[in-house]
Amino acid sequence: MNTPLFEREAPVLFEERVDSTNLYLRRIADTAADGAAVIAKTQSAGRGRLGRGFLSPEGGLYLSVLLRPEAEPERLLTLTPLAAAAVCRAVETVCGVRCGIKWPNDVLLGGKKICGILVESVLGGVKPCVIVGIGINANTPSFPEELSQIASSIAAQTGREVGLHALAAALLREFDALYDRWLSDGGRSVLAEYRARCLNVGREVLVGDRRGLALSVGDDYSLLVRFPDGKEEALRFGEVSVRGLY
Ligand code: BTN
Repeated sequence: MNTPLFEREAPVLFEERVDSTNLYLRRIADTAADGAAVIAKTQSAGRGRLGRGFLSPEGGLYLSVLLRPEAEPERLLTLTPLAAAAVCRAVETVCGVRCGIKWPNDVLLGGKKICGILVESVLGGVKPCVIVGIGINANTPSFPEELSQIASSIAAQTGREVGLHALAAALLREFDALYDRWLSDGGRSVLAEYRARCLNVGREVLVGDRRGLALSVGDDYSLLVRFPDGKEEALRFGEVSVRGLY
């Protein structure tokens, strides 16, 4: 179903409740159009990175997009920063506040995580595809104690309710535009924006149990970290996560 707010070639499906929008698209992957998106009001089994769950009560925006790019796995990794940049742009347009990115893929507002991104490759089916899942804590009413230190909602940070429809429409618009460019430039055009938004650079990070200083973001979106022994390591996207900032 396409509504005037969602003017795009590929379809946008709306669901009240799903297990996970990523799983939903995975189930229809063989027949779904390139670019098909699904938006759900709530998820019963939201999936996060590194096998974690993603809290998905009503009030949040849970959206996934299915893509069929012909690209090396290495290049697919750059869809994550692309999605993060699209979220930042959409939140800025709709809510008027600037967001930053915690490497590799959390979007932060007021020092708290307001969005998580999970990009998954589906290789087993008839047609391989990539599913980009984005969860935004837009008006999420509350967080369990253990999450409230690190996570928040846009509404809590700004003091204003977010229009979910407007946010979803802006997000798909920004995502589609950045993805169009990605198809021709392989993600290079997002690099400058990602660097400008990356909050880790110049700050201490915790990599496993090692402390280091984040120096810069490389051309492949790796995070260059200097450790106390003077050694420098480029942490590769998708392989490690870093702590710090919260
Ligand atoms: C993370 O922060 O660990 C990533 C969270 C990704 C959550 C989104 S919500 C929409 C999509 N469906 C899922 O099950 N996960 C992603």
